[in-house]
Amino acid sequence: MLAVETSGLRRSFGDMHAVAGVDLRIDTGELFGLIGPDGAGKTTLMRLLTGVMSPDSGSVRVFGVDAVARKSDAGMMVGYMPQRFSLYEELTVDENLEFFAKLRSVGREDFTRQRDYLLKFTGLDRFTKRLAGKLSGGMKQKLGLACTLIHQPRLLILDEPTTGVDPVSRREFWQILDSFLHRGMTIFLSTPYMDEADRCTTIALMSDGVLPVVDTPQHIRTLVRGTMLEVVLSDPLRAKQVLARPGPDGTTGAYSRVHILGDRVHIRVDRPDTAYADDVRRILAGSGVPVDRTGFVPATLEDVFVSIIKKEQV
Ligand SMILES: Nc1ncnc2c1ncn2[C@@H]1O[C@H](COP(=O)(O)OP(=O)(O)O)[C@@H](O)[C@H]1O
Ligand SMILES: [Mg+2]
Repeated sequence: MLAVETSGLRRSFGDMHAVAGVDLRIDTGELFGLIGPDGAGKTTLMRLLTGVMSPDSGSVRVFGVDAVARKSDAGMMVGYMPQRFSLYEELTVDENLEFFAKLRSVGREDFTRQRDYLLKFTGLDRFTKRLAGKLSGGMKQKLGLACTLIHQPRLLILDEPTTGVDPVSRREFWQILDSFLHRGMTIFLSTPYMDEADRCTTIALMSDGVLPVVDTPQHIRTLVRGTMLEVVLSDPLRAKQVLARPGPDGTTGAYSRVHILGDRVHIRVDRPDTAYADDVRRILAGSGVPVDRTGFVPATLEDVFVSIIKKEQV
């Protein structure tokens, strides 16, 4: 059964086509990852899926239920944790859970069972009387998740749930998500982290309101031809500028397909030939840009996405 099905989904704000025609089919039990630059339309798409926002046109179905015409029925099956999820800081852990349960009209018995289960599951059972405002960042995140799950949704939609969360809490958060996946939950999440995207059964890349790529991580990695010449150095930005500089005869720079990935640049070349590495070292040395090391690596997910967003020929 399809957990999510959208067709021709659109939503604009004035001239801004935030979601500009999205057709999606997500199976039950999938871990679906949405990635893309700021302003691509990810949050708007998620809001449309949850029914918090209505589309200008197109349809959304959640487990077969029309999320526009039968908003509250569809809404009962969805748990949505927005990007900046707000807990009630002056309420305790327990009171927050109760508040969200009331909001979702969860019956007393269901609430007690689900509350005990979620508290134990998230390791928050020792902190039930603590004010939410006094929890650590990672614990707030887990409480946010517990509040989102209090009405036992079948589809969990998480908007950048781990952005800014420390690495240990991030790992714990993922352990919780994994066990929900094992129980058959469908999870749709956006993330800026490629290692998180890599865990997904399907990844969609969003750019300017559309999804140019929807595929498995394994297949996405094969979308870019050639290989990556990786150059590790202290000033990637300067290296990119130098490499892309047009030649004296006005030709475009020899290396225009340069991506900055943290402390390194990736340069797409057609084959792993050391002549490329020597050439790049020579160009950079000529402009006084020191290089730590070079090597050839396969394209990463990020390389593929950067290439597609920049509309490079892949
Ligand atoms: N409520 C809104 N009113 C006006 N413009 C909006 C609103 N929500 C989003 N936008 C615009 O729509 C575009 C997509 O935003 P958003 O969906 O938040 O993207 P993302 O989550 O990928 O960063 C942006 O240009 C943003 O400024
Ligand atoms: Mg967003």
